[in-house]
Amino acid sequence: MSERIDLSVNIGGLKLKNPVMLASGTVGYGNEISNFTDLSKIGAIVTKSVSLNPRKGNPPQRIVETPSGMLNAIGLANVGLESFINDKIPFLKEVNSTLVCNIAASSIEEYVECTKTLDGEDTIKGFEINVSCPNVKEGGLIFGNDISSVGRITEKVRAVTNKPIIIKLSPNTSNISEFAKVVKDEGGDAVSAINTLVGASFNIWNKKPKINNVTGGLSGPAIKPVAIAKVLEISRKVDIPIIGIGGIMDWKDAVEFMIAGASAFQIGTVNFINPNAGIEIIEGLESYCSQMKIKSISELTASYNLE
Ligand SMILES: Cc1cc2nc3c(=O)[nH]c(=O)nc-3n(C[C@H](O)[C@H](O)[C@H](O)COP(=O)(O)O)c2cc1C
Repeated sequence: MSERIDLSVNIGGLKLKNPVMLASGTVGYGNEISNFTDLSKIGAIVTKSVSLNPRKGNPPQRIVETPSGMLNAIGLANVGLESFINDKIPFLKEVNSTLVCNIAASSIEEYVECTKTLDGEDTIKGFEINVSCPNVKEGGLIFGNDISSVGRITEKVRAVTNKPIIIKLSPNTSNISEFAKVVKDEGGDAVSAINTLVGASFNIWNKKPKINNVTGGLSGPAIKPVAIAKVLEISRKVDIPIIGIGGIMDWKDAVEFMIAGASAFQIGTVNFINPNAGIEIIEGLESYCSQMKIKSISELTASYNLE
């Protein structure tokens, strides 16, 4: 039997038993996937974006399959803060995985109020602040594409919690590392990259968009090389922990993200295809590390060789 590999990671103070995180919006509040996998083995669950008030989201069609990916325009449908605390947290308390709460808002005050209210919940170990949803009119990319807004949101949220703050960055910009820099300067603990890329698709017979919202967020394997390039850019330019996201389908994809600079990673679209993918990735990582004689998975982070 080989020596046990240390899979634990520390992402700016957020300690996880392994680097596998379930991406926001793809597993509900953990409950939607719990019958199909063992959540207690997963490094962290990131909740669906929660906002102050419940949101219905956009009307259907909200999801469509595209080559090597999918477009979604859910529009941040969620139960709202009160129901999240009363109805969702009790289930999440029983799951022996680290809970990261993702927050979306349409004003800086709303981000602050949500964070402040949720800060008292012991089950929540960190916050992921979504400043990059491409599917809502207010908030979303209006914040995510504006460096000073991202800086102000980080600063104001920092003032109301001591728990780790992760800012989820948009790939729909040509200078993602400058956003990561402002997050670091304003006291953020980590960044996650990337959220979805803006995409569109048409039905050629009736000439209508396949997504009711016209555009949606592209996710899945189609975006993986873009995401890896963004992680690499941040890693080379800014000293801040990075959580890699985008098109991870198996352990090999995950290893690529870690080599490019990620301390941990999130899996999203794959959960719809194989809800047990997280566990399979953990097993794959262990066997890769033992083949490569890596004792601690964190040795992989930013281990690229660009010469
Ligand atoms: C159906 C769906 C809903 C999503 N909802 C959210 C959300 O509420 N908040 C958020 O920050 N990201 C959301 N995302 C983005 C994912 O968390 C992730 O960043 C993106 O899908 C890229 O990863 P993937 O290629 O592994 O899916 C959503 C993605 C999908 C596919």
